[in-house]
Amino acid sequence: MVEKPSFYITTPIYYVNAAPHLGTAYCTILSDVMARYKRSTGYNVKFLTGLDEHGEKVQQAAEAHNMTPQEWCDSLAPAFHDIWKTLEISNDDFIRTTEQRQIDAVQYLWNRMKEAGYIYKGSYDGWYCVPEETYFTETQVQKADEERHTEGQHLCPDCGRPLERVQEESWFFKLSEFQDKLLALYDEHPDFVMPDFRMREVRTFVEGGLRDISVSRTSFDWGIPVPFDDKHVTYVWFDALLNYATAVGFGSPAMADEYAYRWPAQFHVVGKDIIRFHCVIWPAMLMAIGEAIPEHVFAHGFLMVRDDEGKNVKMSKSLGNAISPKDVIDLLGVEGYRYYFMTDCVPGEDGGISYGRMEQVYNADLANSWGNLVSRALNMSAKYFDGKTPELPDDWAQTQNPLRSIAEGIAERYCASMDVIQYTQAKDVVMELVHAANHYIEDSAPWSVAKDPARADELALIIANLLESIRICAHLLAPFLPSTSAEVLRRMSLEDEIDTDDLVAMCAWGGLKGGVTVTKGDALFPRLQKK
Ligand code: MSP
Repeated sequence: MVEKPSFYITTPIYYVNAAPHLGTAYCTILSDVMARYKRSTGYNVKFLTGLDEHGEKVQQAAEAHNMTPQEWCDSLAPAFHDIWKTLEISNDDFIRTTEQRQIDAVQYLWNRMKEAGYIYKGSYDGWYCVPEETYFTETQVQKADEERHTEGQHLCPDCGRPLERVQEESWFFKLSEFQDKLLALYDEHPDFVMPDFRMREVRTFVEGGLRDISVSRTSFDWGIPVPFDDKHVTYVWFDALLNYATAVGFGSPAMADEYAYRWPAQFHVVGKDIIRFHCVIWPAMLMAIGEAIPEHVFAHGFLMVRDDEGKNVKMSKSLGNAISPKDVIDLLGVEGYRYYFMTDCVPGEDGGISYGRMEQVYNADLANSWGNLVSRALNMSAKYFDGKTPELPDDWAQTQNPLRSIAEGIAERYCASMDVIQYTQAKDVVMELVHAANHYIEDSAPWSVAKDPARADELALIIANLLESIRICAHLLAPFLPSTSAEVLRRMSLEDEIDTDDLVAMCAWGGLKGGVTVTKGDALFPRLQKK
């Protein structure tokens, strides 16, 4: 048997300290849709998410709660498991950086780095932002302070919170030696960073020159000890980035086959704020130890709240405009939630969200178009064909009709957009068929055809064309609406088609089963009423 090709996709590992929110859920659903889509097109997918649990920030928060850092992390982890389960996230693994596999891998990394000659001991004197777990140089801080008129206070250039002065012995990673190699990587793989405009930003940054970075700390101890210098713990990002390799067996002799099969990853999905870590530091770390570089880093934008004047503003608790995942689930249900964020926010760009728009998208696409189509077609089939799909002659699928024309090549067009995470376009491709099918009902008026027994074959064909369109759309919508699609297929007695791994073949016109039970069922997406 030929082994399926591997497709390895990851989300960032989230800081355990901050409860899961709309932004982290967005990133995770974005990756989940890709994972589901790839499974349906014949890949053996590994989809990884997890938690980033080390660092000064976690240690400080644990102390404030009178817990050990491990107890503190353990108390927070379940909230992530719960929300991912609720949102139908199909991850195959969940890594926590406090697990033994990560400790072993990070220590192995240190030894490999030392052997390769890319680390050295020095002393760090500069600024550190604890909430962002990021170092800043004197010049960066001065410039930002001047721009902000901070009156002598030193604030984080990124988040504006007070900085900590760090003066300590530290191990350094020779990032400065990787400028040319990184530029060569970007030249050879112009789609290493997606979308394009992010690739250009990264390149410009690297062209500006790279400095060695401090990768260990001595002033606190909540981190992975440096194996040959136990006064030092690993800088949290040096630890966190490695999680992607750890989860597929980096450094573990017992997992050598798995590592060879899975590494490098196909996609790291990340937010735009953490691009430099993933597109500069991470590939340089891998180059230093001679490991393969991931194929793509996809950077998504930020979710912003669209205010009454149509302007996008940052979501924040203090502005009173923060929306929580629970608020959205309460309004749209889980499937509506997934559909809205995946098809109405253009991946890669900042997304302006609002309750008004959520209701609009839900009602227009899910209640009035997709839900309505399924309910009308299944009801008519059940009504005119005695609770069944129509019995069909062998060559029924050969007959030309407007739906069949749209369905021809639909899976290929859809895949072309899905492969590059252009979900909004992929959705448009499917919706074309959904809308056409709704029009087809009006144009062909099955209710009048049904009145004339002489037109029984015609009626069977109309209903078959509708059901066949629905079957295809259910498959194509499955990554966004997994439960709904499975339910639609079940209602048409096609349960054996759920979780296909050959989407294109599955979407070929003519797969409908004739003469099998149809179940009408409840409305899939009841219309939202204006409050
Ligand atoms: N722990 C690091 C990642 C280490 S990966 C090796 C981290 N964690 S985080 O919890 O702060 O953020 C994780 C992700 O959430 C980032 O990709 C970030 O872009 C995303 N988001 C945070 N707020 C967001 C929005 N408002 N909108 C969309 N995504 C946002 O960084």
